[in-house]
Amino acid sequence: MNTLFLHCRPGFEGEVCAEMADLAAQLEVAGYPKSKPGSACAEFVCSEADGAERLMRQTRFHRLIFPRQWARGAFVSLPESDRISVLLEALADYPVCGSLWLEVLDSNEGKELSTFCKKFEAPLRKALIKAGKLVEDAQKPRLLLTFKSGREVFAGIAEAGNGAMWPMGIPRLKFPREAPSRSTLKLEEAWHHFIPREQWDQRLAPGMTAVDLGAAPGGWTWQLVNREIRVTAVDNGPMAESLMYSGFVVHQRADGFTFRPRHPVHWMVCDIVEKPARTAALIETWLGEGLCREAVVNLKLPMKQRYAEVRRLLDRIEAGLAERGLKVSIGCKQLYHDREEVTCHLRRLGK
Ligand SMILES: C[S@@+](CC[C@H](N)C(=O)[O-])C[C@H]1O[C@@H](n2cnc3c(N)ncnc32)[C@H](O)[C@@H]1O
Repeated sequence: MNTLFLHCRPGFEGEVCAEMADLAAQLEVAGYPKSKPGSACAEFVCSEADGAERLMRQTRFHRLIFPRQWARGAFVSLPESDRISVLLEALADYPVCGSLWLEVLDSNEGKELSTFCKKFEAPLRKALIKAGKLVEDAQKPRLLLTFKSGREVFAGIAEAGNGAMWPMGIPRLKFPREAPSRSTLKLEEAWHHFIPREQWDQRLAPGMTAVDLGAAPGGWTWQLVNREIRVTAVDNGPMAESLMYSGFVVHQRADGFTFRPRHPVHWMVCDIVEKPARTAALIETWLGEGLCREAVVNLKLPMKQRYAEVRRLLDRIEAGLAERGLKVSIGCKQLYHDREEVTCHLRRLGK
């Protein structure tokens, strides 16, 4: 149980390793990260038996940037037949779990394995229930089985409520046909990730105001309009006509980096592809000058040292806002719909 296994977007294994090494150093958990480029996963191997458990218990999964999913446990080799008996034996020392997820990695092998997992799930579930290892209880840990092949599985657990919201951390969002661009799903995913569902009606309420920087053709604006939020869409490019007919949108052909609203707005969202340091400065200005209450902003990743650079920019934003005496919650995640970028969420706390 001393290994922490983490899923990620293929190509970002190094970022997960850097983030976990940083976290473990902060929490004084001894161990080392390892990964294979392009494998869509990484491991953090702890030196002490309770290392992985301590790492997980002292960290909110939600706060991690690059990992999509996590679990602590061990690899199990599976035979060609009667995999269930071998798994049950390997799980003998695991606690009774409250839910079961069978997962694969976000790779071509993973896609091929998902059919096997679908077939394997029902008989395995039945056997686990019969063996008393699985009960229906949302308070108990989740059993996460990540199949790397039909012969190798990582059998792990994660505390209830401290893991990804969706299997493999991949949201199943339906593309709204009326939305003008696919990036609409990015903003929807950001809301799912950063705003608890029960707070949507209060924090994304009809009648609120928003500025969308780099709005064209309007995928993000569409999400705001869909919640009856009035949007100033800032972009030199054209907005989808259907959105302009909604009556909720004012299009401003202006530079998103110099545009300022006449009155403070509830939301600022920004999807301009720019150097991350420039975007970070923009975030600090909007929150720091009280131009918006909440923001969702895309931060393009640098070419090298991607984790270290993101960390440095987040720390700088945090320090800049603290210097102004402001309390702001800052979150950052590489969402499933993000590629060479991460998404930041900021919310001003207090008055
Ligand atoms: C990735 S696209 C935005 C897509 C949009 N979020 C959507 O969902 O349809 C980036 C946009 O930023 C705009 N852009 C680039 N630099 C800008 C700037 N300095 N000010 C305003 N918009 C800018 C581009 O014209 C482009 O439309």
